[in-house]
Amino acid sequence: MLKINNLKKNFGSKKVLKGINLEVKKGEIVGIIGPSGCGKSTLLRCINLLETPDSGKLMFEGNNLLDGDSNKDIRRRIGMVFQQFNLFDHKTVLENIILSPVLLKIMSREKAIKKAHELLGEIGLEDIANNYPHEISGGQKQRVAIVRTLIMKPDIILFDEPTSALDPEMIGEVTNLMRKIAKEGMTMIIVSHEMNFIKSFCTRVVFMDDGIIKEDASSKEIFLNPKNEDLKSFLSKINAY
Ligand SMILES: Nc1ncnc2c1ncn2[C@@H]1O[C@H](COP(=O)(O)OP(=O)(O)O)[C@@H](O)[C@H]1O
Ligand SMILES: [Mg+2]
Repeated sequence: MLKINNLKKNFGSKKVLKGINLEVKKGEIVGIIGPSGCGKSTLLRCINLLETPDSGKLMFEGNNLLDGDSNKDIRRRIGMVFQQFNLFDHKTVLENIILSPVLLKIMSREKAIKKAHELLGEIGLEDIANNYPHEISGGQKQRVAIVRTLIMKPDIILFDEPTSALDPEMIGEVTNLMRKIAKEGMTMIIVSHEMNFIKSFCTRVVFMDDGIIKEDASSKEIFLNPKNEDLKSFLSKINAY
């Protein structure tokens, strides 16, 4: 589904991504772990074209995403969920969810509203449809952000530390929703420091360090039998090895 070849990204003279190679197949749940500042967010932002890579290849279902204008349609099939939710504060939950499909004319307003209620209902959040983001909890905000992504019917969802801004008691409601979506067959890439979640949830885990991928293996291999020395030291620092 997604094939990344020798992807590079600099910010000024700072080399952040130094040649990323990564392939993700349909239905895979891929975790990305690695020290702060190693380029995890930049990689997700490049995949979603929120950042423009400097070089390399970014193939998504046979299309090169770096190939100019044919990208708009493809791009909306790549959803993204952020640590800080990125909801519009001056819009209600419902308005946040229907904004993109209506703006991009994927659905009529009526249909989008109906679909939004349906999606909120599935996860028990119907009651907050008319609330503003400041009126709901962090866990609810992140689940709304996930619903906002789902209404676009993405083929893959990128999660950038989806639970890092949450109070501990709210992490479960977000990870449970992610598990539900995964069960329905969604392909996902997840950056997270919740090692237990990564360990139990991801089918594959990649270790990023210093702008490259240093290990790419099954979740079990990464945590029980790490090979790369920097991965071993990273895991021992966070008490995961
Ligand atoms: N827009 C930007 N402009 C300049 N430097 C940036 C920008 N975004 C990220 N960086 C730098 O790139 C490096 C990698 O950042 P990031 O991808 O956020 O790392 P991670 O998500 O792994 O913590 C950091 O040194 C960061 O300061
Ligand atoms: Mg980050």
